[in-house]
Amino acid sequence: MQLAPALPLALLGLLGWSQTEGAQAWKLAPPKPLPDARPAELERWKELSCAECHEDVTREWARTTHAMAWIDPLYQESLKEKKKPESCHNCHIPEPLSHVEPGAKPKSRDPQHNWSHFGIDCNTCHLGKEGEILGPFGAPNEAHRSVAAEAFRPENQSAMLCIGCHATNIGPVIGIARDFVETEQEKKGRSCVGCHMAPLERTIAKDATTVRKGRSHELQTPRDPAFLARAFEYRARRDGAKVLVEFENVSGHRVPGLIGRVLDIDAELLDAQGVSLAKGRLSIDHKQFAPVDGVLTLELEAANAAAGAKVLLKGLHDAPGYETPQLFLERTLELH
Ligand code: HEC
Ligand code: HEC
Ligand code: HEC
Ligand code: HEC
Ligand code: HEC
Repeated sequence: MQLAPALPLALLGLLGWSQTEGAQAWKLAPPKPLPDARPAELERWKELSCAECHEDVTREWARTTHAMAWIDPLYQESLKEKKKPESCHNCHIPEPLSHVEPGAKPKSRDPQHNWSHFGIDCNTCHLGKEGEILGPFGAPNEAHRSVAAEAFRPENQSAMLCIGCHATNIGPVIGIARDFVETEQEKKGRSCVGCHMAPLERTIAKDATTVRKGRSHELQTPRDPAFLARAFEYRARRDGAKVLVEFENVSGHRVPGLIGRVLDIDAELLDAQGVSLAKGRLSIDHKQFAPVDGVLTLELEAANAAAGAKVLLKGLHDAPGYETPQLFLERTLELH
């Protein structure tokens, strides 16, 4: 796989989804507990040996669907229909990525092993071929051998740590990382880690004293309404007797990436006094998806929209396992 060259930091800073933005601006509300059957946190996370010294990181990870990739009731349920469920396990209970070529789909662990409980565990990304720990720093310590690895250089992370599992259409999943690769998102300074793991500065192990720049392991997810809303830039403009409401996908891949997810966005045109002039709805799902870098447009009839008119947006998100759709967007747009 071709790896994109590093981008100058100055260029990254110009982009909305910059990786160099302050941690405060980037860190959104922590993901909400799922409004469905999955637990808010993987129980037993303290059994991982890493938790003893990396408690913060491990607890963050324990709240992700990576941690739940095996125990996930939606996954376990979907295995029942499969003749060859073992063909599903590669990405849900993987062996370390270092066991395959960079960017390839990992091998699967033995599902009978107690260790399956931990889904996509620390070893998946961090365990090297010779038992060394791969990381971004390569700082010597007494607990384990650490190596500064190619895969952890920011410009390699997407290709070497994420895309191998996220680029395949399988089960209900759409391999959205293909969009990211085909449209050369890295040239725009975008990366999977840059958007999905918020930057932090902290000491990274028990009794460590050096404050390091790292990342939260709590993946930012579309189950967090504020994060989902950032998938688009929203605009409303006049076009003759119409008002066009535009949704530009700035997420680096199509939206959504899972069969069964639906975004229903209602738009209402109001005059300066708040009287409703027109209404419309945009539904986004895996068939009518928002293409990467594309703009979806909703047309409102607006022959009589005078100065001061506004568009009110309200968006609901439904996903497999949700009991009810969740509000993710409430916003007023000025007309341009
Ligand atoms: C190439 C890697 C890969 C393989 C192999 C794989 N999956 Fe997945 N699976 C994923 C990814 C990535 C996600 C997360 C997608 C998302 O959240 O958008 C996922 C999520 C899921 C989910 C959860 C969906 C939800 O509602 O949250 C189910 C169910 C699932 N997979 C079923 C399967 C089944 C069944 C198979 C075997 C036919 C399978 N997977 C094989 C990568 C894989
Ligand atoms: C006995 C304590 C201890 C245990 C157990 C432990 N670590 Fe560490 N780890 C450390 C210390 C100390 C550092 C160095 C901290 C520093 O230099 O700021 C470190 C550093 C790291 C780093 C950064 C490596 C780099 O690039 O320098 C990673 C990644 C890491 N550990 C992962 C793990 C994983 C995964 C496990 C479980 C398999 C684990 N650690 C178990 C104490 C531990
Ligand atoms: C070993 C395969 C694998 C690797 C490597 C991997 N993922 Fe995933 N990822 C999955 C699977 C499987 C799921 C869904 C699990 C489920 O829902 O049961 C998932 C889910 C996700 C989600 C959805 C989270 C949510 O809560 O809805 C995001 C975001 C994500 N991964 C980002 C990343 C990023 C960023 C990287 C690289 C740092 C990465 N993944 C590496 C397999 C992988
Ligand atoms: C899907 C891949 C993935 C998994 C799974 C994963 N990490 Fe990481 N980890 C990363 C990435 C990417 C970074 C580097 C972030 C950066 O660029 O600073 C990282 C960095 C770290 C660091 C260095 C500190 C920091 O914030 O950068 C430690 C320590 C660490 N991980 C421990 C763990 C432990 C412990 C687990 C399991 C509980 C774990 N990781 C699971 C991808 C992963
Ligand atoms: C520019 C920021 C950005 C980049 C780059 C980015 N994402 Fe996302 N990602 C988002 C946003 C925002 C969402 C929520 C929109 C949605 O639900 O599809 C999202 C959603 C997701 C989901 C959930 C999709 C679903 O339908 O369940 C997965 C999985 C994911 N991203 C993985 C990745 C991977 C892997 C990469 C790198 C190949 C990546 N993302 C790159 C911002 C980004």
